[in-house]
Amino acid sequence: MYEVVLFLHLLGATIWTGGHLVLACTILPSTLRSQDIEFISRFESSYEKIGIPALLVQIISGIYLAFNLLPDISQWFNFSNPVSRLISYKLIILGCTFLLAIDARLRIIPHLSTRNLKALAYHIIPVTLLSVLFVYVGISFRTGWLY
Ligand code: HEM
Repeated sequence: MYEVVLFLHLLGATIWTGGHLVLACTILPSTLRSQDIEFISRFESSYEKIGIPALLVQIISGIYLAFNLLPDISQWFNFSNPVSRLISYKLIILGCTFLLAIDARLRIIPHLSTRNLKALAYHIIPVTLLSVLFVYVGISFRTGWLY
């Protein structure tokens, strides 16, 4: 079971982080240059269909993996233990991702125009950095980089 969940977690990571890197490094700069809102809207609505399920898979599989490493949930925010510290970092990154994503979904995307394109960029860039941080923290469980 553990191996299957880890596989799903890594598959979800490639979709979430990979998709955001494509968005931030290619689609966003080209949209900022051309001001072609249609282009980024089309990418967003296609990517959402796989990106949101991937994030849900990350959350469910991540909770399972965390539970597997540390079954006592009350210890997940114990910053003096290296493993629970990494679990806390994951949950904090998740919280920040949620706040940015909800703000973009509710406040910016419904009224997307050339005028608020920069505001969207200021959401896409941090969510992408957070997605890379998710991977860095994830790898730290094995490598001890952030211990
Ligand atoms: C989009 C979000 C996420 C991404 C991109 C991501 C990415 C990763 C990656 C790349 C690994 C390394 C796996 C390995 O070394 O074999 C990992 C491990 C892990 N992740 Fe995530 N993760 C995400 C969300 C979460 C969430 C929400 C949690 C919940 C606390 C979580 C908990 C864990 C745990 C506990 C491990 C260690 C698994 C182990 O080695 O046993 N992750 N993650």
